[in-house]
Amino acid sequence: MILHKHFDTNEKGHLTIGGMDAVELAKEYGTPAYILDEEVIRENCRAYKKAATDAFGEDALPLYASKALCFTGVYRIAAEEELGVDCVSGGELFTAKKAGFPAERIYFHGNNKTDRDIADAMDMGVGTFVVDNEDELAAVSAEAIRRGITQRILLRITPGIDPHTHRAVITGNVDSKFGSAIATGQAMRIVKKAIAAQGIELAGLHCHIGSQIFDIEPFADAADIMIRFLATIKEECGYHIRELNLGGGLGVRYTEYDRQIDYADAIHRIAAVVKEFCGKSGIPMPRVILEPGRSLVAAAGATLYTVGSVKEIPGFKNYISVDGGMPDNPRYALYQSQYTALIANRATEPREYRATLAGRCCESGDLLGENMEIQKAQRGDILAVLVTGAYNHSMASNYNRLPRPPVIMVKNGEARVAVRRETYEDLVALDQL
Ligand code: LLP
Repeated sequence: MILHKHFDTNEKGHLTIGGMDAVELAKEYGTPAYILDEEVIRENCRAYKKAATDAFGEDALPLYASKALCFTGVYRIAAEEELGVDCVSGGELFTAKKAGFPAERIYFHGNNKTDRDIADAMDMGVGTFVVDNEDELAAVSAEAIRRGITQRILLRITPGIDPHTHRAVITGNVDSKFGSAIATGQAMRIVKKAIAAQGIELAGLHCHIGSQIFDIEPFADAADIMIRFLATIKEECGYHIRELNLGGGLGVRYTEYDRQIDYADAIHRIAAVVKEFCGKSGIPMPRVILEPGRSLVAAAGATLYTVGSVKEIPGFKNYISVDGGMPDNPRYALYQSQYTALIANRATEPREYRATLAGRCCESGDLLGENMEIQKAQRGDILAVLVTGAYNHSMASNYNRLPRPPVIMVKNGEARVAVRRETYEDLVALDQL
């Protein structure tokens, strides 16, 4: 086992992913390629669903935050595993619709929904809008009135929590671009407007404090603040808020230096504090919604590359260049995110070499990691970066006109193309002049 139980090695000394030989997968599907172990995603969905309903009650619902990995096959899995989904754009909504995802279980997020997004989502019958701010509340209300419907909404609230994570992914702090802060009084103002608004049913509140968080305390703090706010709303407005969405954000093990979180245990611990705070505030337990993205899909994935140039700069560093890079995984360039890499065709050899993993773009920041522990590499080796299931495919670009890699799903010893590789023709398909 390497990091997670579905990454292992076989008698040839090759990396296996969900029991399948990574070197064979690279041969069959080419590189770079994203490989996904479908069973891992399904197991994670089931674990979240069971823990949420055991801990919070039968009406609790985990939503898959589909920004983490978005293509029709993933929405089908989420639908079959009876999760809801969080969509943040017209494009995500369209993909969910194409996959036949039940619209009533979609929560439509985003801090700046366009008029067209709002209309499209209402055309689709999206169950719940998560309204970010007063401008958006007015726009959603106006469109609902125009259509003669009542749109169910949650309001995105900023509890003001520092989740001790990377600054670029902190979203719960007061000066965030997301939501309305309790501390500034804007949260109460938008609640009052939503209660009074025509065409709107205010069903609940939402908060999301950040991503890749390993401690439970920030979630407990956020729950405490949100529940006290529910009690204040009851007191000041006589209005009972029935639903509380606590967002996503639980961390994932990318390297052996990261802890493995037991998600079921984490959910039970969060539930215990929610119950305690509801008791203290004298309000009934709301229906609780969770919104994991990364922790459902990240560990399921790995990216396979072919090694090209290997360059040793004496006294400085070693470079291993691969046939992908920041266009298929921009996370090191953006956040210095740490990964585990290995040579898939010599996976049982110790990782005693140190190298900077370089992509093939004309940009020195195009790196997948620096000073990484890896086996010594040579041209033609298959290099695997593990735990790339979240925020890789969904954040991929065509920088330097590199076609995006395919997504290959493995399950029960079989591999299927879930998203085909882009071709050069695809790259010019939109060009008109
Ligand atoms: N709900 C909301 C409203 C969110 O904004 C997010 C993530 C999630 C749920 C899911 O969070 P998760 O469980 O995946 O941590 N591109 C960054 C991550 C950005 C997360 C944005 N929001 C990265 O690659 O690390």
